[in-house]
Amino acid sequence: MKIEFLDTVDSTNDYIRRYLNGSENVIVCAGTQTKGRGTKGRSFLSGEGGVYLSALIFPDALPAENAFRVMAHAAVSVCRTAEAFGIDPQIKWANDVFACGKKLSGILIENGFSGKFLKWSIVGIGVNAENDLSEVDTAISLSQAAGRNVPAEQAREKLIENFIMPSSFEEYLSYIRFLGQTVRVTEGVREYEATAVNVLADGRLEIDDGKEIRALSAAEISFRWGLK
Ligand code: BTN
Repeated sequence: MKIEFLDTVDSTNDYIRRYLNGSENVIVCAGTQTKGRGTKGRSFLSGEGGVYLSALIFPDALPAENAFRVMAHAAVSVCRTAEAFGIDPQIKWANDVFACGKKLSGILIENGFSGKFLKWSIVGIGVNAENDLSEVDTAISLSQAAGRNVPAEQAREKLIENFIMPSSFEEYLSYIRFLGQTVRVTEGVREYEATAVNVLADGRLEIDDGKEIRALSAAEISFRWGLK
């Protein structure tokens, strides 16, 4: 796989689009990003000391309904990386990795479909390694969680190594720790509490609202976890 390193770039997810016309998997890493992008149109803090990486992959005949496998794999690679530095990570459904109750990493996936298949996927991963997070109470770095300095280069190397190794959906589920807990769901104008029951292979979260068990997609709801 081709791997490209840049000192700085607007967003690795945007930069990597120049390879969309090819067919070879590519990884682009940057030391900083000037326009790091998060999910839901948010920006993503991308200063010195973080890992900012995008992988462009061309899955082989992956049905569109299995596209969540790519997200799950990305989250697993981050969890394996955190574990390599002695940290106990958790996946906060669907696309964040947490350590010590704070956000360690975010993932932004952009997909291209051809008919019923996933044609390409841009997997953008940002991991806090040794960046200054003193202004952000809700985030944590690998260095803070490990209690020792974790250089961004080391974290990046591990992340690439882990991303290249395949994973299973069971491995993804092993990092989900909030099942059975009460979560607060916001679905349009409705807000209610429910019990998180399961994460399905297509990425939907099964919840029990006391009346029935339903499966919700991340696009439809937002939720607060760990209420109990
Ligand atoms: C989120 O937490 O909302 C997702 C953040 C994704 C950030 C990564 S950093 C590498 C890649 N380039 C971007 O502009 N975003 C992703």
